[in-house]
Amino acid sequence: MFNYKQLEPSKCRFIDVANTDEVGNGQRLFFELDNHSIVLFNIGGEYFAIENECSHDGAPIGDGEIEDMAIICPRHGARFDIATGKVLSLPAVEDIPAYPTRIVGNRIQIGIPKKSSKPNR
Ligand code: FES
Repeated sequence: MFNYKQLEPSKCRFIDVANTDEVGNGQRLFFELDNHSIVLFNIGGEYFAIENECSHDGAPIGDGEIEDMAIICPRHGARFDIATGKVLSLPAVEDIPAYPTRIVGNRIQIGIPKKSSKPNR
């Protein structure tokens, strides 16, 4: 499973990554957590976090263009749903991890699965 947003919150560790005012509407934040390279998006005041690695050939995907809640891999053009990590077009055929986000006070937190350091592909 790559959409960790479907995990029960008790199966995630939520980690502070930024203040809400550090990631304004339309902005992105890149960071590393537990050997995961993650990109966080603020889209219309909602936060989404996905693995910053394309499942096709491992390219960083976080700088890709966004169209209709899909991010387009800058290397070969595969598209992924930002909310779920679901692959939407070739040449990629596998989903990428999507992580739950939550706001506590003015802090943005990302949920990392407690057991795995990286999903098996
Ligand atoms: S590395 Fe992303 S589409 Fe090829």
